[in-house]
Amino acid sequence: MDFDEKQSFGFGGNAMIARVSRFSWSPFLFLITLTALLSFQITTNTIYPIKIVFSSTSKTDVSSDTRTSCVGFFGELPERKAVMSITEFGGVGDGKTSNTETFRKAIRYLKRFGESGGAQLNVPKGRWVTGSFNLTSNFTLFLEEGAVILGSQDPKEWPIIEPLPSYGRGRERLGGRHISLVHGDGLTNVVITGNNGTIDGQGKMWWELWWNRTLEHTRGHLVELMNSNNILIANLTFCNSPFWTIHPVYCSNVVVKDMTILAPLKAPNTDGIDPDSSTNVCIEDCYIESGR
Ligand SMILES: *[C@@H]1O[C@H](CO)[C@@H](O)[C@H](O)[C@H]1NC(C)=O
Ligand SMILES: *[C@@H]1O[C@H](CO)[C@@H](O)[C@H](O)[C@H]1NC(C)=O
Ligand SMILES: *[C@@H]1O[C@H](CO)[C@@H](O)[C@H](O)[C@H]1NC(C)=O
Ligand SMILES: *[C@@H]1O[C@H](CO)[C@@H](O)[C@H](O)[C@H]1NC(C)=O
Ligand SMILES: *[C@@H]1O[C@H](CO)[C@@H](O)[C@H](O)[C@H]1NC(C)=O
Repeated sequence: MDFDEKQSFGFGGNAMIARVSRFSWSPFLFLITLTALLSFQITTNTIYPIKIVFSSTSKTDVSSDTRTSCVGFFGELPERKAVMSITEFGGVGDGKTSNTETFRKAIRYLKRFGESGGAQLNVPKGRWVTGSFNLTSNFTLFLEEGAVILGSQDPKEWPIIEPLPSYGRGRERLGGRHISLVHGDGLTNVVITGNNGTIDGQGKMWWELWWNRTLEHTRGHLVELMNSNNILIANLTFCNSPFWTIHPVYCSNVVVKDMTILAPLKAPNTDGIDPDSSTNVCIEDCYIESGR
């Protein structure tokens, strides 16, 4: 059975390379919308506050807002009061040491600033192996130039969580599913950004488990945020996800901007961005090379 049919847009399917640059459409869509709105004599600003929005229910809504970028609705990049580096928590970026507990500890610690100005965790240049960790609210994960987060090759570091309610089962295997490498549930105001640092899921092991039919539970995504709002993912490179790369689900106000997403052709069922059951999702200037 094929569960991989997507209700989303052109960069799923068999597209090998999708250059996503919605902005070039805007003058055209703008005119259509303006014409439509004028013909109904409705004022524009109050109806659609967002210029271009993708959601699972409507592919493209367009307003007459003259902002040049749909990222506007997220506002400015929020400043965080507490800014700390993963090295302050004992992280080792040698490409070998597991930093799973370090990331979890760091975010547990930084969570306390959620109500008092928010927090930012910097990941400096280096190769930081880690299993899954959860983000928190009012939080920025910042990958400096040359920072590479590497997904652990130990499946136990990607624990099993409940399937999504709207699926009722794991997508590839019955029952639970592996959690995503970077995960969040019930969060607000989360930013994942940096100076083009990389999150590399090292998905090859997972693809092999799928091919040789020994995969026990559905593979994890690279980044999944559930039941969350006000999310910005920008200026990074994501590659080699075990499964989908960015999966906002039951979320609203999600901006994915200036991303490079690489999934080799030989990676089965990997994909770029799937904003499942989410609303107000804006994807802008992303370069996606997808292996589905
Ligand atoms: C996030 O920050 C806002 C504004 O400071 C605050 O009202 C809210 O309680 C914070 N949320 C969490 C979960 O810390
Ligand atoms: C991360 O969140 C998920 C559910 O959202 C939970 O099942 C899991 O235990 C959390 N992991 C950690 C390390 O706290
Ligand atoms: C970010 O890094 C990726 C991979 O190294 C590269 O392809 C891309 O061009 C870079 N993006 C920018 C804006 O420099
Ligand atoms: C299936 O692939 C995994 C990951 O590469 C490997 O560890 C395992 O030995 C393989 N199992 C079989 C039966 O080929
Ligand atoms: C992304 O990087 C560009 C160029 O360095 C910078 O102007 C922009 O503010 C960054 N955006 C975010 C969301 O970090």
